[in-house]
Amino acid sequence: MHAMTIPEPGGPEALRWAEVPDPVPGEGEVLVEVAATAVNRADLLQRQGFYEPPPGSSRYPGLECAGRIAALGPGVAGWAVGDEVCALLVGGGYAERVAVPVGQLLPVPKGLTAEQAAALPEVVCTVWSNVFLTARLRPGETVLVHGGASGIGTMAIQLAKAVGARVAVTAGGPEKLARCAELGADVLIDYREQDFVEVLGEATGGAGADVILDIMGAKYLSRNVDALAVNGRLVIIGLQGGVQGELNLNTLLRKRAAVIATNLRGRPLAEKAAIVAAVREHVWPLVESGVVRPVVDRVLPLAEAAEAHRVLEAGAQVGKVVLKV
Ligand SMILES: NC(=O)c1ccc[n+]([C@@H]2O[C@H](COP(=O)([O-])OP(=O)(O)OC[C@H]3O[C@@H](n4cnc5c(N)ncnc54)[C@H](OP(=O)(O)O)[C@@H]3O)[C@@H](O)[C@H]2O)c1
Repeated sequence: MHAMTIPEPGGPEALRWAEVPDPVPGEGEVLVEVAATAVNRADLLQRQGFYEPPPGSSRYPGLECAGRIAALGPGVAGWAVGDEVCALLVGGGYAERVAVPVGQLLPVPKGLTAEQAAALPEVVCTVWSNVFLTARLRPGETVLVHGGASGIGTMAIQLAKAVGARVAVTAGGPEKLARCAELGADVLIDYREQDFVEVLGEATGGAGADVILDIMGAKYLSRNVDALAVNGRLVIIGLQGGVQGELNLNTLLRKRAAVIATNLRGRPLAEKAAIVAAVREHVWPLVESGVVRPVVDRVLPLAEAAEAHRVLEAGAQVGKVVLKV
């Protein structure tokens, strides 16, 4: 088969389409013939040599895909050759075929194309696990989503609104904020022009956010804690603003608040399977009824993955960039 390989770390041009050995599905895995995959920020880091795939996993980038089951490994029940699926991956989505543990498979939601379905697994699993399973966002609470126009952000806005939360977002500029508003965001903060602690304070009568989904890490740590409500939960999932920050523990203590950081890719199989099962139960009905939609900015051929990486690097997209095999 062919896959997008990274012979040497570097810029987008480091991605090389090459002939590689076919993956063989192991115990409890299926072989998926990939129809589409989608680009995540983590793929850019992997290409640059800053985000090594976990030992034993595919070396090719691609954390999600949609396609058709082409073969079953030993011990697989409940899935059949020909089933249309999408999947959460630890890697290997930028390829013609990928082996996937059954716990990470989801049926393609009714009414969606493979290209739309490929845009879902990574963002839905990340948002559901962090905002709902970890931070336990409840109806009526306020969530602040940093990077509201990102792949992650566009899904976080929709899911939080679907459960009846109030949503504040940060984004870079009025056009991106307008797209966040279309998805349901209630409080719009331009991070280039405004102080999010101040705007959020005004919007919540001084109370702050019950939950913050953060992608900036160190750069926002102290201000995020300032923006938290009493009993607030700050979940850090991205480190775009650095890894070493300063935290005022007295502020945290007085608010009886929590700071949590998580990642999805490194979790054991059983944890990923539990997240995928929760997504199938709670999120798939919302997708199939049209309450929550994949936000696909554009679809490019997989051969143009380098161009897709440039789009993300330039911040030129809203939602997801999908790659069609
Ligand atoms: N821990 C995990 O398991 C996990 C899983 C998936 C993703 N993530 C993380 O989630 C983040 C989003 O991923 P993605 O694939 O959705 O990326 P993406 O679409 O490329 O989005 C990156 C976002 O960062 C925003 N941003 C840049 N500077 C900002 C600032 N100063 N304040 C607020 N937002 C700022 C951009 O906003 P504008 O475009 O509006 O400027 C953009 O929306 C990444 O950091 C990624 O590593 C973590």
